[in-house]
Amino acid sequence: MKRVTFLFVLFFSLTIAAQQGGMWIPSLLKGMNEQEMKQLGSNLTAKDIYDVNTSSLKDAIVHFNGGCTAEVISPNGLLLTNHHCGFSQIQSHSTLENDYIKNGFWAKSYADELPNEGLYVDFIVRIEDVTQQVLLGVSDAMPEREKQSKINSNSNAVEKATKKEAWQKTKIKAFYKGNRYFLFVYERYEDIRLVGAPPASIGKFGSDTDNWVWPRHTGDFSMFRIYASKDNKPAKYSFDNVPFKPKHFLPISIKGIKEGDFTLVFGFPGRTNEYLPAVAVEQIIQKINPSNIAIREAALQVIDKAMKEDDKIRIQYASKQARIANYWKKWIGENLGLEKTNAIDKKKDFEKLFLQKVNKKGLLEKYGNLLPQFNVLYKEIEPIAVKRSNFLEVFIRNNELMQLMFRMYQLESSLNRGDTYFIQTKKNVLSRAKKLFKNYNALVDKGVFNAIMPLYTKSADASIYDKTGFTSFEDTVQMLTGTPQEIISKINSDAAYQYAKPYFEEFYSTLNPSFFALNDKINNLQKLYIKAQMEVLPNERYFPDANSTLRVTYGQVKGYAPKDGVYYYPISHLEGVMEKYIPGDYEFDVPQKLQDLYASKNYGKYADENGKMPVCFLGTNHTTGGNSGSPAIDANGNLIGLNFDRVWEGTMSDIYYDPEICRNIMVDIRYVLFIIDKYAGANRLINEMKIID
Ligand code: ARG
Ligand code: ASP
Repeated sequence: MKRVTFLFVLFFSLTIAAQQGGMWIPSLLKGMNEQEMKQLGSNLTAKDIYDVNTSSLKDAIVHFNGGCTAEVISPNGLLLTNHHCGFSQIQSHSTLENDYIKNGFWAKSYADELPNEGLYVDFIVRIEDVTQQVLLGVSDAMPEREKQSKINSNSNAVEKATKKEAWQKTKIKAFYKGNRYFLFVYERYEDIRLVGAPPASIGKFGSDTDNWVWPRHTGDFSMFRIYASKDNKPAKYSFDNVPFKPKHFLPISIKGIKEGDFTLVFGFPGRTNEYLPAVAVEQIIQKINPSNIAIREAALQVIDKAMKEDDKIRIQYASKQARIANYWKKWIGENLGLEKTNAIDKKKDFEKLFLQKVNKKGLLEKYGNLLPQFNVLYKEIEPIAVKRSNFLEVFIRNNELMQLMFRMYQLESSLNRGDTYFIQTKKNVLSRAKKLFKNYNALVDKGVFNAIMPLYTKSADASIYDKTGFTSFEDTVQMLTGTPQEIISKINSDAAYQYAKPYFEEFYSTLNPSFFALNDKINNLQKLYIKAQMEVLPNERYFPDANSTLRVTYGQVKGYAPKDGVYYYPISHLEGVMEKYIPGDYEFDVPQKLQDLYASKNYGKYADENGKMPVCFLGTNHTTGGNSGSPAIDANGNLIGLNFDRVWEGTMSDIYYDPEICRNIMVDIRYVLFIIDKYAGANRLINEMKIID
């Protein structure tokens, strides 16, 4: 009897260890997750992580500008996030004279902290399951339109009835593809100032060559501060605002980490697709990824070359280049990983098992047709999905003149909705144009046009760059002056607009409608597929796909073996920075001061027990885009690192999570503090933190 229990426990813990993965809803950790976290070494209770009535870890976590994560690390609203998350702010304050990208930036006092127009952070106040209310009167049999409008009106009613303070906001999000709904009450702070950033040679060390790769040596962090009104409430930027007082801030442990230690990553993962059928994954691998990779590769060749030749262009295009390069490389890794792990075959095996279970439970009638229907729909949507995705890459994401023309097209279309709407749209378009032209180089953009347009259409006519009236912000203001009719007629006589317009018309009149008609059906099917899996395989663990809401993921510090004969240790050191050092290189240069600190081993209390300076470490936390800047938290709720990336072999974790090789990459908090303290001498920041040594 005893032996059986022992074996059972052993088996149970082995399956858990093997199954690691998942991004969980913070308000639902009691039970399975809490238990599993304890097994992995945590001392935290579910209530320590998320609680509504008393302060908890969640009160230190913010969604940073809707895309990244950041955490509060002092009683004065000091925020820590990644260098790459704050990069567009760092970039926007940079000039040739004050090049904060190259030299870093450290505010000497509160008064020196730099405001950032449009930048905001959201705190989650509480999370409520509102599935019943949202799905009231909704049935699977309803036509899609009707269903969606019922869901919308129910959601509006729930939000209206939600008790909240005047400065709080609400939103409702679908989970498990619409099988469940959760309401979020949140607070948005809009006066967020730049406090500090290391030079790119630390914060972006290794750049694209090292991006998505282990071993890693990047000090990927930057610092901001939340400012609030005098009564500590959200407020627009004002000189009179004061540093925000948080309900909780993360204490920082510099005791150090070792393989096997518990880690928890708390943040806002953006989007994953873990429950796709094999046929969908096949389409991503074979069609969507390769064509988009080719487009970005062509654009990057032009931009990279121009950036290397001209310092002004380097600054202007730094942020845009990083954005384009990031997913270009991600998609390549994703494809390699999906192929190497035989994700398609594994999905197909799962689908066989699923069908067997469906059959066994007598549910063939109800669920037997799901997979064949997926096959039909994905076949049908394929050419449309590929073309639409390529359209977005070519016209919206990689070419700036086309992107501007797209705005003009939206402006023209807005006239249908009346003059007031037109005027509002014009304001938006102008503010976009202003940002665009601040960092615009027509020659670079023309080069990009020439490189990528032929990948979409046979008629790529770059002469529009010599003829267009949209060459500067001032020109654009001129073009948009006059009555709505005059403006529309001026735009329509512009060569660039004339070139682009037919593609936009095609996008709106055929591409989008046919895509969404099929995609709605696919989504519906996906919702049913998840429900069916939960019903026929009730003992599996189902975490909801990422949807830009607050999640907890946990695991341990752990290395990995990506191929035969190779094992990667989970911790990197400053030695590795020096091994990679290439004097004067745009990716691997090392600042003199850091070299000096290395030479004198002047690491202060931040060195590890062997006197070495740790830089980055790996964990088995299941993360994705949006988790950047998320805190890595130890077994006692202290900050030990900052999440910023994943390993090359495991970038497919958004679609297929393999616990053997999927790892997240964090920068060790000791390296962050060492840079702030010893490299930058920014003691005033160190002094406001709570450091446990
Ligand atoms: N790959 C990481 C993420 O997805 C870091 C990207 C920033 N670095 C870069 N070289 N673009 O965001
Ligand atoms: N680097 C990503 C981010 O910016 C994180 C990831 O995709 O692993 O959120």
